[in-house]
Amino acid sequence: MAASILLLLSALILLSSVSSPVNSLSLNYYDQTCPNAESAITNAVKKGMMNDKTVAAALLRMHFHDCFIRGCDASVLLNSTGNNKAEKDGPPNISLHAFYVIDNAKKEVEALCPGVVSCADILALAARDAVAMSGGPTWDVPKGRKDGRISKATDTRQLPAPTFNISQLQKSFSQRGLSMDDLVALSGSHTLGFSHCSSFQNRIHNFDTTHDLDPSMQPSFAASLRIVCPMHNKVKQAGAALDSSPTTFDNMYYKLLLQGKSLFSSDQALLTTARTKALVAKFASSQEEFEKAFVKSMIKMSSIAGGQEVRLDCRVVR
Ligand code: HEM
Ligand SMILES: *[C@@H]1O[C@H](CO)[C@@H](O)[C@H](O)[C@H]1NC(C)=O
Ligand SMILES: *[C@@H]1O[C@H](CO)[C@@H](O)[C@H](O)[C@H]1NC(C)=O
Ligand SMILES: *[C@@H]1O[C@H](CO)[C@@H](O)[C@H](O)[C@H]1NC(C)=O
Repeated sequence: MAASILLLLSALILLSSVSSPVNSLSLNYYDQTCPNAESAITNAVKKGMMNDKTVAAALLRMHFHDCFIRGCDASVLLNSTGNNKAEKDGPPNISLHAFYVIDNAKKEVEALCPGVVSCADILALAARDAVAMSGGPTWDVPKGRKDGRISKATDTRQLPAPTFNISQLQKSFSQRGLSMDDLVALSGSHTLGFSHCSSFQNRIHNFDTTHDLDPSMQPSFAASLRIVCPMHNKVKQAGAALDSSPTTFDNMYYKLLLQGKSLFSSDQALLTTARTKALVAKFASSQEEFEKAFVKSMIKMSSIAGGQEVRLDCRVVR
């Protein structure tokens, strides 16, 4: 009896893995094959965050970058090779760091169950843990992503730019099955982390033919940014926190956005349509509504399908 059920089950599994071209994710994906994977990953993220307060933001940004290029397939983690310049060495590389946290998590997980847990799943789980351990919500992450074999620096042109207006943002998100509501909720990630001057330079110097400063920016906020980021900024690491509490996952980003105190044109753009502006106002007044929407949109973004195998070292294709 038990054996025939097992046979039936394995036949079904075989059938589904042959017939479905996309990875179907599930909450219990590793329940049989690696039940302790999630707690090992959580521990690695906790350790990383204890040593360095910038790790949480880095992991969240890394996961976004991963999912927006070739799906959530850990392409962002691959190293360049002799004849290929990888994503991580492409233009916005300055904002990517803390890859070692994923390496450590992968090492732990490989020790528990070799060759089972994908790097893409590790990154998705690490991003969730980073948010939760920064005071944000937690949620169950569907798993079963596969790792890809391709990573190209030139692909990073497909990431939305901080200079994008609302129609450009909408296009970028809808190409990936994400809505305007997802755009507003996921932009709330800018409650964590840091930006280099280059990402908001356009708003504080030579904004347009009639304004030096972006007039939608709160004037004293803009003035303070010009001090840290002068026109010919020579300090490579100079920049500003994305909100006033950059290690706490809260709804402060939306409150500041309504006051003209956001860094990017792409943040400010959320105020330029009635629907997105109303959502910004809603999230500014309710942390709970923000968290509910954020979790829903993260699960959507995290589910963009990508690769086809499980890497052994997140930095190299086997
Ligand atoms: C809506 C389109 C988006 C644009 C144009 C954008 C742009 C940027 C830029 C330019 C930076 C600063 C890079 C630097 O100068 O160092 C940044 C940082 C960051 N972004 Fe976004 N982003 C977007 C959406 C997202 C999404 C969807 C997430 C996560 C789900 C995210 C998470 C982050 C985080 C956490 C940081 C801080 C990184 C750190 O401190 O290491 N962003 N973003
Ligand atoms: C990947 O690149 C990093 C940074 O250049 C280097 O330290 C590391 O050894 C490389 N890892 C592999 C497996 O190639
Ligand atoms: C980051 O990207 C820039 C622009 O493409 C490139 O010049 C630089 O070498 C890259 N840095 C690293 C560490 O790969
Ligand atoms: C956004 O920018 C694009 C490209 O510059 C332009 O074609 C479009 O009209 C702009 N949309 C809005 C709403 O400003």
